[in-house]
Order: sequence, then structure tokens, then C-alpha cells
Amino acid sequence: MKEINITSSFTIFDNLNELPADIQDLMTQAVEIRKKAYAPYSKFKVGAALLLDNGKIILGSNQENAAYPSGLCAERTAIFYAGSTYPEAKILKMAITAASDTNQTTAPIPPCGSCRQSIAEYEIKQDTPIEIYFMGEIGEIYKSSSLKNLLPLMFDKKFL
Ligand code: THU
Repeated sequence: MKEINITSSFTIFDNLNELPADIQDLMTQAVEIRKKAYAPYSKFKVGAALLLDNGKIILGSNQENAAYPSGLCAERTAIFYAGSTYPEAKILKMAITAASDTNQTTAPIPPCGSCRQSIAEYEIKQDTPIEIYFMGEIGEIYKSSSLKNLLPLMFDKKFL
């Protein structure tokens, strides 16, 4: 028997002002699109902004449905749009923010497992890490330098 240790590390920024200018702009756009989320059931609004290597910024917000599982998270709304509109472009950076209508989210909100799996597909496809920044409504911002850092031991095409 043996044990392995896999470590993940994150950079933590105290607030938006501490972020590099381009990420500040990306996060500001994520905040704006978050406000357009369709989240009548959870009242939990999420916004995602992606920067592509062709300079385009792609935005997405969560879209809920009365048949709950038919809804989609903000991250996948954005990444599937990027994948379908600019299939040749690489996704370089992603900013995520979440805010609840019922209580203020002060902790950084990381992407859910399904979103991590979906983002992983593109990171592997493009063979270039995607920087991921995530925050709540206010407070600290976490930076992960890749999706792999957020999803160790991931399932991917090499197992198929
Ligand atoms: N949600 C996201 O948009 N992204 C995540 O990574 C986690 C959850 C959405 C889904 C649902 O509309 C609401 O937040 C509550 O789960």
C-alpha cells in the first residue's frame, strides 16, 4: 500500500483593487452579467466572463428552469457559447462571481463539479491552462492557475 499527496494552490486577492487591470475588467463584466441571471428558484445569481486568445470576451449567467436539472450554470453557459462560436480560439482566463438575493456571499464561490468537468474538456482540448478567478459578491478573490489545479485526478479522454 502507498499514499500519494496531490496539492492545489491558490493566490488570494483581498479585493477587486488588488487584481491586475485586465482581470479587474473581466470580473467587472462578470458582475454585470451576473445581474442578468435567470435564477427565480434559487435566488442565487452567478456570472462568468471568459477572455479568449482572439481578444473576445464571452459572458454567461445561470439560467434556471422549473424542471430544476434542465437549468444551466453560468460557467457552462459561457464556455459552451465560446466553444460553439469560436471553436478555434483558446480560453485564457475566466472570472466568476456569485451573489444571493437572500444573504450576502462574502466567501469566494468556486465552480461546481459539473462545471469543472466541462471546463476541463476545453483546457485539455486547447493544451493551454485556463486561469480561473472566483469570488462571492464581495470579499476575497481566489485565483487558480489552471482548471487541473481545481480538479485533480480528473476523468478525461485518455481513459476512453
Ligand atoms: N450555479 C452556477 O451557475 N455555477 C456554479 O458553479 C454553481 C451553481 C448556479 C446553478 C443554480 O442556478 C444556482 O447557481 C444555485 O445552485
